[in-house]
This record gives sequence, C-alpha cells and structure tokens, in this order.
Amino acid sequence: MKNNSFDIEWVREQFPALKNNMAFMDNAGGSQTLKTVMDRITEYLTHYDVQLGASYSTSQIASTQLEESKKPLQSWVNAKHPEEIMIGSSTTMLLRILSLCISQNWKKGDEIIITNSDHESNMAPWKDLQKAGFKLKRWKVNPITYQLELDDLEALMSNKTKLVALTHTSNILGSINPIKEITKLVHENKALICVDGVAFAPHRLVDVQDLDVDFYVFSTYKTFGPHQAIMYGKLEHLTAISGINHTFIDSIPYKFQPGNLNYELSYSLAAIPDYVKRLGNNDLEKGFEEIADYEQELANHLLNYLNSNPNITVIGETSANKNLRVSTISFVHKNLNSQHIVEKVDAHDIGIRFGDFYAVELIDDLGLRQNNGVVRVSLVHYNTIDEIDKLISLFKKVL
Ligand SMILES: Cc1ncc(COP(=O)(O)O)c(C=O)c1O
Repeated sequence: MKNNSFDIEWVREQFPALKNNMAFMDNAGGSQTLKTVMDRITEYLTHYDVQLGASYSTSQIASTQLEESKKPLQSWVNAKHPEEIMIGSSTTMLLRILSLCISQNWKKGDEIIITNSDHESNMAPWKDLQKAGFKLKRWKVNPITYQLELDDLEALMSNKTKLVALTHTSNILGSINPIKEITKLVHENKALICVDGVAFAPHRLVDVQDLDVDFYVFSTYKTFGPHQAIMYGKLEHLTAISGINHTFIDSIPYKFQPGNLNYELSYSLAAIPDYVKRLGNNDLEKGFEEIADYEQELANHLLNYLNSNPNITVIGETSANKNLRVSTISFVHKNLNSQHIVEKVDAHDIGIRFGDFYAVELIDDLGLRQNNGVVRVSLVHYNTIDEIDKLISLFKKVL
C-alpha cells in the first residue's frame, strides 16, 4: 500500500523491467508489465492448468477462479453485467469479430461512419463490410485544430447510419474525444457507437455506463498487462447479435469468444485494476486521478520544450491539459526526417519511435508521409521528469 501523494518510487517498484537503465517512452506501443500480473500468470499455471468445466476438483476450482477473475474487470470499466465483458487475443481480433457478427443484422445500403484518425484496427473491419454492400462514410479531423468536429458528424448521419466507429484517443494526436457527447448525438440518430479505447485506457478511468457507449475495446498489453484485449458490449446488443463460436455455443460472452481463451493471461488481468486501486489507496477512481495529474506534469514538461522550438510542430493538442489530452505526444521537424531523429536517440537507451503507428489515413491526410510519419514520445505514469530531461537534452543536440 502506498501513501497519499504520487509515490513514483513505489510505482516503479511494481514493474520489474524498470530496474534496467532503459527509459521506456514507446508505451502507446506497449507498456511494461506489473509484477503482480506476472505472479498471477505463474499462479494459474502452477495451480489451475487444466481444461475447464470437467467434474474433477481441479477443473471445478479453475473454472471458478477464472470466472471470479473477471469480476474486477467488470468493475474496472463499470459494466452493468458480468457477461458484457469479452476477452480476446487483441483489439484487432475483437473488433473483427464484432464487425462480422453485428453486420449479420444489417441490410445492404446501411451506413457506417469511421474516422480518419483511428488505428486501422477500428477501420479495416468496417471498411471490409463495403464488399457486402454497406456504405462507408468518413468523419475527418480538422487538419488545423486536429479535432473531430461534432457538426461534421451530424452532417454525415442519416436514417441509414447503423454504427459510428471511432477512437477515444488517437494514438498519434493524444487528444481525448468527447465520447459522452458524441454518443448522445449518435443515439439521437438511432445508431450505435463502437469506441477504440486502446490509447485512452492506460491513462484515464473508463466508465462505460457514464459514457453510455455500445461497444468499447482496449488492449491490456498497453495497460500494464499481457497481450490480450477486453471488449465491453451492452447486453441488449450482445443478445440481439449472433455469435461466431461453434453453433451450439450461444451464451454471452462465449459466443463472441471462439475457441479457448488464453486462461493464464485472462486470469492475470485482474491485477491491473487492483494495482491502480492500490495507487489510489483502495480507490480506483482516485488512482486514475493521480495518474492523470502526474502525467499532466510529464506532458507539460515535454510540451514546454517542443512548443518553444520554432522548428517543431506538435501534431495534436499543444497544451498538457489532462482533460484535453493524454501524455502521448507526437511532433514533426521542419527540416529533419522523423526516422533520422529517432535513430539519433536510439543509441542512448531511450525508447521512442517514428512512423504512422497504423493510423495510416491520418498520416496521409495530414501530409506527413514525406516526414516518415511523426516522432512519438508516449509517456505513462511510471516515466519520470529525469527521463524526460535526458530526452530533451538529446533533442537539444539533434533538433
Ligand atoms: C489506438 C490503437 N487501437 C488499436 C490497436 C491495436 O491493438 P491490438 O494490437 O491489440 O490489436 C493499437 C495498437 O497499437 C492502437 O494503438
């Protein structure tokens, strides 16, 4: 248990990999893993590594343990019912499953709206439905403000719109989309909303009931856990949609989880909300508030430097305001290629990254392909001001 103010030493002790010298600043690509997550993987494999649902005692215990381990996930995102939580190998896979299942209930000519600022994960499954006769529309970010504007969405909606798919936070821009407000508009138009929360969930509390979203997905390897993903779906929709598992498996959530889950990784996930809860002295919401405040300081430190360099353009929100952005910060340089900048940093045990980060359309639409995409520094709450200072002093030599 940690004490009241943000205790960075306690935080870093929870991640074995942080004992090394490396400064991990590619966290939006993948975060470091909690020791308690690792412990639960070992615990599962040591005590419960059998097939579930048999009548012998170890199988019975394993089934109960796995079922119990889902309860903290339900409370993490504030889902109303336990069946509303689905687990899969990745966000990409879960969204693909969702698109295949949900589109069974639609008819040719029905419309889907996607954005140009999403990771391909929440675009490709919907784009591919065009082959089956569904119409796709694009909600594009304003290239000056980097914002998705509500008026633009309103103009795209029609009585044929079935679904709006968008990201809670762009993995490049770092800006937080007003999902609650967007959901209200989508629902007023009798459509559903599917939110990619991958770049948001490591930084802020997800509350699916407050947001009133229909589907919400994120990857746990970016939220301090293993390579898995969690999808929330409103029970009424999950009931109405047909699944993709063996035909005789039609209960929720199993009909959306074809094949066996990775039991040991699924079991380990409960350690993630438990950790944030401990960070907030037994209060998950407070834990995430502490994360938001601390990350705002980190973002502010880096943005102050980037905004002060006339050769640099921050691609996204330029303020560090925790209500407007997370600490995933991207930029380009007037004269230097993004790849060149990152390669200069690589030799110094700092992990940052360049590219399009699979937000291919955004990079193309913003005309940043010629820069080899953006340089992205993605910070989380275990990073430190010292690490950022080290990066800034390198940038001062290179940029
Ligand atoms: C915003 C965003 N969405 C989706 C994904 C895809 O996640 P997964 O690897 O779990 O499919 C990523 C991965 O980088 C991402 O950054």
